[in-house]
Amino acid sequence: MNDVKKHDLVVIGAGPGGYAAAIRAAQLGLDTACVEKEPRLGGTCLRVGCIPSKALLESSEKFAEARHGLAAHGVQVEGATLDLAAMMARKDGIVAALTDGIAGLFKANKVTRYQGAARLDGPGRVMVGEQALQAERIIVATGSSAASLPGLDLDGDRIGDSTAALAWPAVPERLVVIGAGYIGLELGSVWARLGAQVTVVEYLDRILPGTDGEIARVALQLFRKQGLEFVLSAKVTGARVEGDKAVVSIEGREPLTADRVLVAVGRRPHTGGLNLESAGVALDARGFIRVDDRNLAAPGIWAVGDVVGGLLLAHKATDEGVAVAERMAGKAGHVDPAVIPAVCYTDPEIAGVGRTEEQLKVDGVPFRKGVMSFRSNGRAMALDRVEGRVKVLSHKQTDRILGVHVIGPRAGDLIAEAAAAMAFGASAEDIGRVCHAHPTLSEVVREAALAAHDRPLHG
Ligand code: NAI
Repeated sequence: MNDVKKHDLVVIGAGPGGYAAAIRAAQLGLDTACVEKEPRLGGTCLRVGCIPSKALLESSEKFAEARHGLAAHGVQVEGATLDLAAMMARKDGIVAALTDGIAGLFKANKVTRYQGAARLDGPGRVMVGEQALQAERIIVATGSSAASLPGLDLDGDRIGDSTAALAWPAVPERLVVIGAGYIGLELGSVWARLGAQVTVVEYLDRILPGTDGEIARVALQLFRKQGLEFVLSAKVTGARVEGDKAVVSIEGREPLTADRVLVAVGRRPHTGGLNLESAGVALDARGFIRVDDRNLAAPGIWAVGDVVGGLLLAHKATDEGVAVAERMAGKAGHVDPAVIPAVCYTDPEIAGVGRTEEQLKVDGVPFRKGVMSFRSNGRAMALDRVEGRVKVLSHKQTDRILGVHVIGPRAGDLIAEAAAAMAFGASAEDIGRVCHAHPTLSEVVREAALAAHDRPLHG
């Protein structure tokens, strides 16, 4: 047994929740250590999630554009071909640069790094292999991993999860995606653009559960137009490898045969092997760590990010990690769970913040609604990206913005204005009165806000 190493704070997990907490705590003067079992820092997001998927989404979009999208601009491209190995190498390069960047930030901020799987050993103690760490404060930020279904023969080759689908060596001729959530639609889009015939099988009668229904309906139409096939209200009951194919069984329907299958049916928290009970940390019925509204799980132990549930999004994890670190240093860290934007990076992008129209109806909240299409926006026309709309929902009496939902070009960037406005308690009229640069896509957000008051200029 090595000597016990003492720190003010030990963070378990170096994903967007853990690394952000560690850096912020170190900046604020705490002697901070971070334990990560993988050789590369950055967690799912940087290694096998947000970042590599966005790299492939950008590259595949360029390929699709070169093949089909430039003629309208008067640019003729003959014989565009795919170099998948180069596309993958570019993605790997981005991942390497960003994960090395976190290692650099740890060094610069004097965060001590331990590599290995951590487990709690009673309050205030963490074991990494034979190394004991002691700290008055511990943050668990171990994230989540892809969930599966019973009856799936997940061999990682023909039938795999998102990690596998980020590194397939060739474009499958036929791909079946199980689950029409963020992962299924983003990675389904990547491989469809690269030439695969993609069928998405979804249990519900709609895609993108949790997204505003009107926006999801528009998305479904646009994805179908792009050539993706959808089988809705269809429960996958199993998938097996047969020779060099995979066969997907669906309740009450003919099975589907494919070259590859992507399983994207949600994620589950990473709590195994952490010995959480030893420190009095409890799980909820779905296996997430139970925390209070300040992310405290047990005396001296906090938990942030996917492992505590809520929205399983990198930026939510980061904000929770930073807020916990700031409160540890006596500052006023704060996360408003009602104002966390979500973005699906398909083409067009889909983004939302706040409550959906369906949620407002269920909650019985009276609301105004303003909708504006990108069709009348000059910048969208110049981009040749006029599909989609912005929807602003505000309270019927106070006009306070309750939700903003966008499908359209750069929706992920446009939603930042809505999140900022909501964080400041703005009304739809406030956005309508702010000068928006012309010609920009942001004018559509302003027009949707004006439309909530029946006074858009271009509606
Ligand atoms: P998800 O929970 O968003 O969607 C899973 C889908 O699978 C659901 O629509 C569900 O109805 C369906 N499903 C479940 N069982 C099924 C069955 N037996 N047959 C057919 N369909 C079935 O999960 P997803 O897409 O795997 O993403 C996981 C998490 O990662 C989500 O919480 C998501 O927010 C997050 N994520 C966020 C991204 C982003 O912010 N851009 C990108 C990727 C993931």
